[in-house]
Amino acid sequence: MSEKAPPAPQVTAARLRDMKTRGEKIACLTAYDATFARIMGDAGIDVILVGDSLGMVIQGHDTTVPVHMNDMIYHCRSVARARTRALLMADLPFMSYTTVEEGLRNSARLMQEGLAECIKVEVTREQTPIVAALSENGVPVCAHFGLTPQTVHKIGGFRVQGRDRSQAMGLVAQARELEQAGADILLVECVPGEVGRNITEAVDAPVIGIGAGDATDGQILVLHDILGVSSGKRPKFSRDFLAGSASVSEAVRTFIEDVRSGRYPGPEHIYT
Ligand code: KIV
Repeated sequence: MSEKAPPAPQVTAARLRDMKTRGEKIACLTAYDATFARIMGDAGIDVILVGDSLGMVIQGHDTTVPVHMNDMIYHCRSVARARTRALLMADLPFMSYTTVEEGLRNSARLMQEGLAECIKVEVTREQTPIVAALSENGVPVCAHFGLTPQTVHKIGGFRVQGRDRSQAMGLVAQARELEQAGADILLVECVPGEVGRNITEAVDAPVIGIGAGDATDGQILVLHDILGVSSGKRPKFSRDFLAGSASVSEAVRTFIEDVRSGRYPGPEHIYT
Protein backbone atom coordinates (compact mmCIF):
# COMPACT_ATOMS: atom_id res chain seq x y z
CA MET A 1 0.00 0.00 0.00
CA SER A 2 1.47 3.37 -0.98
CA GLU A 3 1.71 5.93 1.80
CA LYS A 4 0.60 9.52 1.18
CA ALA A 5 3.34 12.08 1.87
CA PRO A 6 2.52 14.08 5.01
CA PRO A 7 1.34 17.63 4.28
CA ALA A 8 4.14 20.22 4.35
CA PRO A 9 4.14 21.99 7.75
CA GLN A 10 2.65 25.45 8.03
CA VAL A 11 5.25 28.21 7.73
CA THR A 12 5.54 30.32 10.89
CA ALA A 13 7.98 33.00 12.03
CA ALA A 14 9.66 30.33 14.20
CA ARG A 15 10.06 28.06 11.19
CA LEU A 16 11.71 30.88 9.20
CA ARG A 17 14.17 31.32 12.07
CA ASP A 18 14.97 27.59 11.91
CA MET A 19 15.49 27.91 8.16
CA LYS A 20 18.05 30.65 8.82
CA THR A 21 19.84 28.40 11.32
CA ARG A 22 19.95 25.58 8.77
CA GLY A 23 21.10 27.92 5.99
CA GLU A 24 17.94 27.26 3.93
CA LYS A 25 16.97 30.26 1.80
CA ILE A 26 13.46 31.70 2.22
CA ALA A 27 11.40 32.48 -0.91
CA CYS A 28 8.75 35.21 -0.63
CA LEU A 29 6.47 36.99 -3.10
CA THR A 30 3.71 39.56 -2.95
CA ALA A 31 0.14 38.60 -3.87
CA TYR A 32 -3.07 40.57 -3.81
CA ASP A 33 -5.74 38.06 -4.83
CA ALA A 34 -6.79 34.44 -4.39
CA THR A 35 -5.77 33.19 -7.85
CA PHE A 36 -2.11 34.18 -7.58
CA ALA A 37 -1.99 33.15 -3.91
CA ARG A 38 -3.17 29.65 -4.94
CA ILE A 39 -0.52 29.43 -7.68
CA MET A 40 2.18 30.48 -5.21
CA GLY A 41 0.92 28.07 -2.56
CA ASP A 42 0.94 25.17 -5.03
CA ALA A 43 4.50 26.10 -6.03
CA GLY A 44 5.64 25.98 -2.38
CA ILE A 45 6.29 29.64 -1.57
CA ASP A 46 7.32 30.26 2.07
CA VAL A 47 5.83 33.73 2.65
CA ILE A 48 3.07 35.62 0.84
CA LEU A 49 3.09 39.36 1.48
CA VAL A 50 -0.01 41.41 0.85
CA GLY A 51 2.10 44.49 0.30
CA ASP A 52 0.99 48.08 0.08
CA SER A 53 2.75 47.90 -3.30
CA LEU A 54 -0.82 47.11 -4.35
CA GLY A 55 -1.23 50.89 -4.53
CA MET A 56 1.17 50.87 -7.47
CA VAL A 57 0.60 47.53 -9.24
CA ILE A 58 -3.16 47.13 -8.64
CA GLN A 59 -4.48 50.66 -8.15
CA GLY A 60 -2.13 52.46 -10.56
CA HIS A 61 -0.72 55.07 -8.17
CA ASP A 62 2.91 56.25 -8.42
CA THR A 63 3.62 55.43 -4.77
CA THR A 64 2.21 53.35 -1.90
CA VAL A 65 1.12 56.45 0.01
CA PRO A 66 -2.57 56.48 -1.10
CA VAL A 67 -3.26 52.95 0.19
CA HIS A 68 -5.84 52.71 3.01
CA MET A 69 -6.49 50.14 5.73
CA ASN A 70 -9.69 49.03 3.98
CA ASP A 71 -7.72 48.30 0.77
CA MET A 72 -5.26 46.20 2.77
CA ILE A 73 -8.04 44.26 4.50
CA TYR A 74 -9.90 43.59 1.24
CA HIS A 75 -6.82 42.19 -0.53
CA CYS A 76 -5.59 40.30 2.54
CA ARG A 77 -8.95 38.53 2.93
CA SER A 78 -8.87 37.60 -0.77
CA VAL A 79 -5.40 36.08 -0.44
CA ALA A 80 -6.29 34.32 2.83
CA ARG A 81 -9.07 32.35 1.11
CA ALA A 82 -6.49 30.61 -1.09
CA ARG A 83 -3.48 30.41 1.16
CA THR A 84 -2.09 26.99 2.01
CA ARG A 85 1.15 26.51 3.96
CA ALA A 86 2.74 29.93 3.39
CA LEU A 87 2.97 32.54 6.15
CA LEU A 88 0.51 35.32 5.33
CA MET A 89 2.08 38.70 6.02
CA ALA A 90 0.39 42.08 5.49
CA ASP A 91 1.56 45.69 5.51
CA LEU A 92 0.39 48.42 7.83
CA PRO A 93 -0.19 51.22 5.27
CA PHE A 94 1.00 54.83 5.37
CA MET A 95 -0.06 56.79 8.51
CA SER A 96 -1.92 53.83 10.00
CA TYR A 97 0.49 53.73 12.98
CA THR A 98 1.12 57.37 13.89
CA THR A 99 0.83 56.26 17.53
CA VAL A 100 1.51 52.87 19.06
CA GLU A 101 -2.20 52.57 20.00
CA GLU A 102 -3.31 53.27 16.42
CA GLY A 103 -0.77 50.74 15.12
CA LEU A 104 -2.02 48.07 17.51
CA ARG A 105 -5.66 48.76 16.58
CA ASN A 106 -4.93 48.59 12.86
CA SER A 107 -2.82 45.43 13.27
CA ALA A 108 -5.76 43.83 15.06
CA ARG A 109 -7.95 44.74 12.07
CA LEU A 110 -5.45 43.24 9.62
CA MET A 111 -5.40 40.01 11.63
CA GLN A 112 -9.08 39.73 12.61
CA GLU A 113 -10.72 41.11 9.45
CA GLY A 114 -7.92 40.49 6.91
CA LEU A 115 -6.81 37.16 8.46
CA ALA A 116 -3.12 38.11 8.28
CA GLU A 117 -0.73 36.06 10.41
CA CYS A 118 2.19 38.47 10.56
CA ILE A 119 2.30 42.27 10.44
CA LYS A 120 4.92 44.12 8.41
CA VAL A 121 5.68 47.70 9.36
CA GLU A 122 8.07 50.20 7.74
CA VAL A 123 10.15 51.79 10.48
CA THR A 124 12.63 54.55 11.11
CA ARG A 125 14.75 54.18 14.25
CA GLU A 126 12.27 56.44 16.09
CA GLN A 127 9.46 53.99 15.31
CA THR A 128 10.99 50.98 17.07
CA PRO A 129 8.33 51.21 19.85
CA ILE A 130 5.59 49.96 17.48
CA VAL A 131 7.67 46.81 16.86
CA ALA A 132 8.07 46.29 20.63
CA ALA A 133 4.35 46.86 21.26
CA LEU A 134 3.28 44.39 18.58
CA SER A 135 5.70 41.79 19.87
CA GLU A 136 4.56 42.30 23.50
CA ASN A 137 0.98 41.74 22.33
CA GLY A 138 1.82 38.41 20.74
CA VAL A 139 1.80 39.62 17.13
CA PRO A 140 4.43 38.16 14.79
CA VAL A 141 6.13 41.23 13.38
CA CYS A 142 8.32 41.94 10.37
CA ALA A 143 10.26 45.23 10.56
CA HIS A 144 10.93 46.80 7.14
CA PHE A 145 13.87 49.22 6.96
CA GLY A 146 16.56 50.50 4.59
CA LEU A 147 14.52 52.03 1.78
CA THR A 148 11.02 52.58 3.18
CA PRO A 149 8.74 53.41 0.22
CA GLN A 150 6.09 55.07 2.41
CA THR A 151 8.60 57.90 3.07
CA VAL A 152 9.37 58.40 -0.62
CA HIS A 153 8.15 62.01 -0.65
CA LYS A 154 10.40 62.86 2.30
CA ILE A 155 13.54 61.08 1.08
CA GLY A 156 13.05 62.35 -2.46
CA GLY A 157 12.78 59.14 -4.49
CA PHE A 158 13.36 55.39 -4.52
CA ARG A 159 17.12 55.49 -3.77
CA VAL A 160 19.67 52.94 -2.61
CA GLN A 161 20.28 53.39 1.14
CA GLY A 162 23.41 52.81 3.22
CA ARG A 163 25.99 53.67 0.58
CA ASP A 164 28.11 55.74 2.92
CA ARG A 165 29.88 54.15 5.86
CA SER A 166 28.02 55.90 8.66
CA GLN A 167 24.62 55.18 7.08
CA ALA A 168 25.64 51.53 6.59
CA MET A 169 26.69 51.23 10.23
CA GLY A 170 23.41 52.89 11.26
CA LEU A 171 21.45 50.21 9.38
CA VAL A 172 23.33 47.40 11.14
CA ALA A 173 22.69 49.11 14.49
CA GLN A 174 19.02 49.50 13.57
CA ALA A 175 18.79 45.78 12.74
CA ARG A 176 20.09 44.92 16.22
CA GLU A 177 17.64 47.35 17.87
CA LEU A 178 14.72 45.89 15.95
CA GLU A 179 15.65 42.35 16.93
CA GLN A 180 16.03 43.45 20.55
CA ALA A 181 12.59 45.08 20.37
CA GLY A 182 11.08 41.74 19.36
CA ALA A 183 11.00 41.75 15.56
CA ASP A 184 10.55 38.16 14.38
CA ILE A 185 11.61 38.94 10.82
CA LEU A 186 13.57 41.82 9.30
CA LEU A 187 13.02 43.02 5.75
CA VAL A 188 15.70 45.24 4.26
CA GLU A 189 15.19 47.05 0.98
CA CYS A 190 17.64 48.55 -1.51
CA VAL A 191 21.04 48.49 0.15
CA PRO A 192 24.44 47.47 -1.23
CA GLY A 193 25.11 43.71 -1.10
CA GLU A 194 27.82 44.19 1.53
CA VAL A 195 25.40 46.04 3.82
CA GLY A 196 22.79 43.29 3.35
CA ARG A 197 25.42 40.74 4.39
CA ASN A 198 26.49 42.72 7.49
CA ILE A 199 22.86 43.11 8.62
CA THR A 200 22.16 39.40 8.09
CA GLU A 201 25.23 38.38 10.09
CA ALA A 202 24.44 40.82 12.93
CA VAL A 203 21.11 39.24 13.96
CA ASP A 204 19.60 35.81 14.64
CA ALA A 205 16.23 36.83 13.18
CA PRO A 206 15.72 35.88 9.53
CA VAL A 207 16.50 38.76 7.16
CA ILE A 208 14.52 38.97 3.92
CA GLY A 209 16.06 41.18 1.26
CA ILE A 210 14.72 43.07 -1.71
CA GLY A 211 17.57 44.62 -3.63
CA ALA A 212 19.84 43.82 -0.66
CA GLY A 213 22.24 41.37 -2.26
CA ASP A 214 22.70 37.62 -2.16
CA ALA A 215 23.66 37.09 1.49
CA THR A 216 20.28 37.75 3.11
CA ASP A 217 18.38 34.74 4.47
CA GLY A 218 15.61 35.15 1.92
CA GLN A 219 14.43 37.15 -1.05
CA ILE A 220 11.17 38.88 -1.78
CA LEU A 221 9.99 40.38 -5.06
CA VAL A 222 6.79 42.03 -6.26
CA LEU A 223 4.65 39.61 -8.27
CA HIS A 224 4.14 42.01 -11.18
CA ASP A 225 7.93 42.54 -11.49
CA ILE A 226 8.66 38.80 -11.77
CA LEU A 227 5.94 38.51 -14.42
CA GLY A 228 7.37 41.47 -16.36
CA VAL A 229 4.05 43.36 -16.31
CA SER A 230 4.89 46.30 -14.01
CA SER A 231 4.72 49.69 -15.68
CA GLY A 232 7.90 51.74 -15.95
CA LYS A 233 11.48 50.61 -15.61
CA ARG A 234 12.03 47.29 -13.79
CA PRO A 235 14.31 47.80 -10.77
CA LYS A 236 17.91 46.57 -11.19
CA PHE A 237 17.42 43.93 -8.47
CA SER A 238 14.37 42.33 -10.10
CA ARG A 239 14.15 39.70 -12.82
CA ASP A 240 11.42 38.78 -15.28
CA PHE A 241 10.91 35.09 -14.46
CA LEU A 242 8.07 34.73 -16.95
CA ALA A 243 10.51 35.28 -19.82
CA GLY A 244 11.66 31.76 -20.60
CA SER A 245 8.83 30.10 -18.64
CA ALA A 246 5.84 28.40 -20.26
CA SER A 247 3.33 29.62 -17.65
CA VAL A 248 2.87 31.81 -14.59
CA SER A 249 3.13 28.69 -12.40
CA GLU A 250 6.47 27.80 -13.95
CA ALA A 251 7.74 31.37 -13.46
CA VAL A 252 6.83 31.22 -9.76
CA ARG A 253 8.43 27.76 -9.39
CA THR A 254 11.60 29.02 -11.09
CA PHE A 255 11.74 32.02 -8.74
CA ILE A 256 11.47 29.70 -5.71
CA GLU A 257 14.08 27.25 -7.06
CA ASP A 258 16.49 30.03 -7.98
CA VAL A 259 16.21 31.65 -4.54
CA ARG A 260 16.71 28.29 -2.80
CA SER A 261 19.69 27.33 -4.94
CA GLY A 262 21.29 30.81 -4.81
CA ARG A 263 20.95 31.33 -8.59
CA TYR A 264 18.89 34.45 -7.83
CA PRO A 265 19.99 37.16 -7.23
CA GLY A 266 22.97 37.21 -9.59
CA PRO A 267 25.76 39.81 -9.58
CA GLU A 268 23.77 41.93 -12.07
CA HIS A 269 20.97 42.34 -9.47
CA ILE A 270 23.20 43.56 -6.63
CA TYR A 271 23.94 47.19 -5.68
CA THR A 272 27.52 48.11 -4.77
O1 KIV B 1 4.64 46.50 -0.38
C1 KIV B 1 5.46 45.66 -0.78
O2 KIV B 1 5.22 44.91 -1.73
C2 KIV B 1 6.74 45.55 -0.09
C3 KIV B 1 7.79 44.77 -0.79
C4 KIV B 1 8.42 45.64 -1.81
C5 KIV B 1 8.78 44.21 0.16
O3 KIV B 1 6.93 46.12 0.94
